[in-house]
Amino acid sequence: MAGHRQRTGQRVINWDRLGKTARKAVETPILKRFNDPNRAREFAIEAGDLLFDYSKTSMDEAGRSLLLEMFDESAIPSRRQAMFGGDSINETEGRAVLHTALRNQAGAPVMVDGRDVMPGVLGTLSRMERFAEGVRDGGIRVTGGKVTDVINIGIGGSDLGPAMAALALAPYHDGPRCHFVSNVDAAHVNDILLPLKPETALVIVASKTFTTVETMTNADTVRKWIGESLGDEDAGSHFVALSSAEERAAAYGIGPERVFGFEDWVGGRYSVWGPIGLSLMIAIGPEAFRAFLSGGHAMDLHFQAAPPLQNMPVMLALTGLWHNQGLGYATRAVLPYEQRLSRFPAYLQQLEMESNGKSVSMNGSDLPVHSGPVVWGEPGTNGQHAFYQLIHQGTRVTPCEFMIGAAGHEDEVAHQHRLLVANCLAQSEALMKGRSLAEARALLGDNYSGEELELQARHRVFSGNRPSTTLVYPKLTPFVLGQIVALYEHRVFVEGAMLGINSFDQWGVELGKALARDLEPVVSGEADAGDKDASTAQLVSFVQRHSG
Ligand code: F6P
Repeated sequence: MAGHRQRTGQRVINWDRLGKTARKAVETPILKRFNDPNRAREFAIEAGDLLFDYSKTSMDEAGRSLLLEMFDESAIPSRRQAMFGGDSINETEGRAVLHTALRNQAGAPVMVDGRDVMPGVLGTLSRMERFAEGVRDGGIRVTGGKVTDVINIGIGGSDLGPAMAALALAPYHDGPRCHFVSNVDAAHVNDILLPLKPETALVIVASKTFTTVETMTNADTVRKWIGESLGDEDAGSHFVALSSAEERAAAYGIGPERVFGFEDWVGGRYSVWGPIGLSLMIAIGPEAFRAFLSGGHAMDLHFQAAPPLQNMPVMLALTGLWHNQGLGYATRAVLPYEQRLSRFPAYLQQLEMESNGKSVSMNGSDLPVHSGPVVWGEPGTNGQHAFYQLIHQGTRVTPCEFMIGAAGHEDEVAHQHRLLVANCLAQSEALMKGRSLAEARALLGDNYSGEELELQARHRVFSGNRPSTTLVYPKLTPFVLGQIVALYEHRVFVEGAMLGINSFDQWGVELGKALARDLEPVVSGEADAGDKDASTAQLVSFVQRHSG
């Protein structure tokens, strides 16, 4: 990396100062910071339905002031205004970034190139609602009558958003069953189709570009499945398209009344709020979908209005920068204590890593610090019985982002939820407090003595002083989920803007796609592996010999 000072607009960020301040702060144990009776309250934010507690981190007053200074230096408010105002802030693609318009149900004008986009957004939302209602109440029928199963075919943002949200909101699901096919691996589509009946299936082809190989290949397979059973004539009534490329969808033979379009200023990983959310809307109904949009919009208003210190997305982002760019922690674990958020870490992987996994800043220079971190995670308590060992006793520090609802949906077994909450809170406490050698000795004193006691005790020491944040919400309703998703979107925006990254393009996915196109004929034996490297040629040869 070339130097550690970076220009965003006219201002200069001194990243070295962040590193020095953060390294000094970690010398004080996190637990000791709670000698200040105000620590918990002052290092937490409540906004809307959410409480974000970042007091169990090493961030101190000096560190936070510096981060807020850096925030001011990065001119984020003007970039934020530019985003909400429809300016072309996605500079490499020459596009506005306006997923926020999709949840602006009041319809306050949003201008792009001098045109208010809101009438189009709200018109499409109404069309989606009429269609979703029709599918749910049987007014819209397929060959076999009422739709029983919806199959969403998409990948990346055209899959992860609706798949994550449909699972998260399962208790609100009162429409047809929803299935999600994404992988080009035929095992995926095969296993989804196996128990389904083509005559009562509705197929949603979700693709912003309508060119993505995985999606179009799966769509062809499903079209064949329907055609073989019902004949090509009838197949049309089973298909819907969600796309910015409406002509391509039409060319695929899907009638205009079945195409729900959106504009190029909706990025794939930000698209669940619009037509790409149709499967979710069919599952939970238009009213609950609107509540999801309202949650996102409430977070938009908070993000725009709250001063930085009280601004949840800003402070979530600054905590991320503290850990990754300040202290060099290369990954962060997202740990929802909510089984139905089991796809949330995967959703965030695309949102965060496709947005901020870049090494060139907007002005073309190399990033002076690391790009966004590796994001990973699993729901608690499952993770506790798998990888928490490393989180507690491994040599590397992993900042943990816990998430927990005050209540679950299963009132009749509320004791299980209390157990879940206790586990979540116990983990952040354990990470912070750890266990000293003296405590470990005391624990084992009855069973061991001498050298054996020392040895056994060493293995039971927890260094502690490991950082975590906790996001608490009342209950995972559509409105709450909307707030959480928008919170993370804006976090990505702030982190990316402070790093000087364009968070809205994704050139890093293109090379692999191009090489896969070249390799397909080599794998099938139509072309030889002539110009391929020896490793690739060897792998192709093995596959060819064993592909039966
Ligand atoms: O290849 C990455 C990507 O472009 C993502 O950004 C996007 O969400 C996904 O592919 C799917 O794209 P599409 O919706 O155009 O099929």
